[in-house]
Amino acid sequence: MPAHAVIGGQWGDEGKGKVVDFLSERAHIVTRFSGGNNAGHTVINQLGEFRFHLVPAGIFWPGVICIIGNGVVVNPEPLLSEISELEKKGVDTSHLLVSDRAHVIMPYHVLLDSLEEKARGAKAIGTTGRGIGPAYVDKAARVGIRAGELLDPEALLPRLKEVVAHKNAIITKIYEQPPISADDIYEQCVAWGNKLRAHIVATEPVIYKALAANQRVLLEGAQGTLLDLDHGTYPYVTSSSPSIGGASTGLGIPPHAITSITGIFKAYCTRVGGGPFPTEMHDTTGELIRERAWEYGATTGRPRRVGWFDGVAGRYSHMVNGYTCLCVTRLDVLDGFDCVKVCRAYKIDGVETTQFPSNVSLLERAEPVYEELPGWSKPTAGCTRKEDLPPEARQYVHRIEEMVGAPVHIISTGPKRHETILVKPIL
Ligand code: GDP
Ligand code: IMO
Ligand code: MG
Repeated sequence: MPAHAVIGGQWGDEGKGKVVDFLSERAHIVTRFSGGNNAGHTVINQLGEFRFHLVPAGIFWPGVICIIGNGVVVNPEPLLSEISELEKKGVDTSHLLVSDRAHVIMPYHVLLDSLEEKARGAKAIGTTGRGIGPAYVDKAARVGIRAGELLDPEALLPRLKEVVAHKNAIITKIYEQPPISADDIYEQCVAWGNKLRAHIVATEPVIYKALAANQRVLLEGAQGTLLDLDHGTYPYVTSSSPSIGGASTGLGIPPHAITSITGIFKAYCTRVGGGPFPTEMHDTTGELIRERAWEYGATTGRPRRVGWFDGVAGRYSHMVNGYTCLCVTRLDVLDGFDCVKVCRAYKIDGVETTQFPSNVSLLERAEPVYEELPGWSKPTAGCTRKEDLPPEARQYVHRIEEMVGAPVHIISTGPKRHETILVKPIL
């Protein structure tokens, strides 16, 4: 049963969109299993540059079924915009399916996200403001509305009225803001249901049949392992499980169906929003990388914080996910440096460790212990064969393999589909 997972190995934005698009040529199904429109996955091809927040990055390959799984929280508004943008470019979206069990992000989730962030003040998480946390809260509290319910307006109305009354108590009494209208939201839900009717289905049988027929199912991770609700730098995390565990529950597939797990790692690190980031650069090198690589969020446009490759976090990410192989992206961004650094350990309160601590207070005190490797002057940008990489770049990739503990099967040397070195096929 060949399901292949692509997982963000760091704090998101590793280049999952590019890699999933590249791999989708050989897939029958491409499916998102967690997160929502907090994700921003960039795909560049002959039709232009696309930033997908919900639609799986396999949508461009004809015949590939794209699924938004039950573990995803779906805001129908940006989903409909993505569908219409694709249709305008002549891309067929009739193979896009949304699980009827996926929870819907409602306007009150988006509102509460912003009110909660404001209330956190200096301790704000720096969320994307898309209502992700509040939507997962409602899912866990068993008061969420699911995509399938949009197709059954009669049953939806009393549920929605009850939920909105409770939300309004919070909005008016705790945050002292004007109440929202249940009737307006209901009307919006009915319209969403009508527009998405053809897409909302039970997706488990579709995936089950594909796996049973030995067809390739590609699982498109969103966010990254260090943003995982359980395994990330809590509380500076997202509210879902972007690591491999989330793939099974987020789609309704057995764990043993997943035969390969590819960890996507940038050749350095970035992070958007608040939270500890031990290898963060606060110098001109960090700024140089940010500008050269245009490290600005694909969802919110915020500048991404930039740091050297963190081998301690990378090793931990491998421990949590059990990567069968890795993909290193954005190697070209490091072209031309005299030397490049990788973090092999942390020093916390004077004690060296290679363990990734769970407490934010410890991570905030972690000082990176760096190893310096020689840089390379011959560009790797656009390179498509490993033999053509300068030896120092190969040595750098090899050091990442050693530190994380898994072999690199793909090296990405540019944002376009063909700017890729396939060291070893992974599906
Ligand atoms: P995702 O969220 O993991 O899909 O990543 P994003 O799309 O948010 O951010 C990755 C950025 O890096 C995008 O702008 C991609 O076009 C770009 N990108 C991906 N791979 C490469 C690469 O190998 N080299 C360069 N220079 N850019 C890349
Ligand atoms: P992709 O799929 C990078 C971050 C936010 C914030 C934290 C919580 O493009 O890699 P949330 O809105 O989820 O409650 O915000 O998580 N975050 C991401 N950072 N890439 C992402 O997705 C992210 N999705 C959420 O910046 O720090
Ligand atoms: Mg992104």
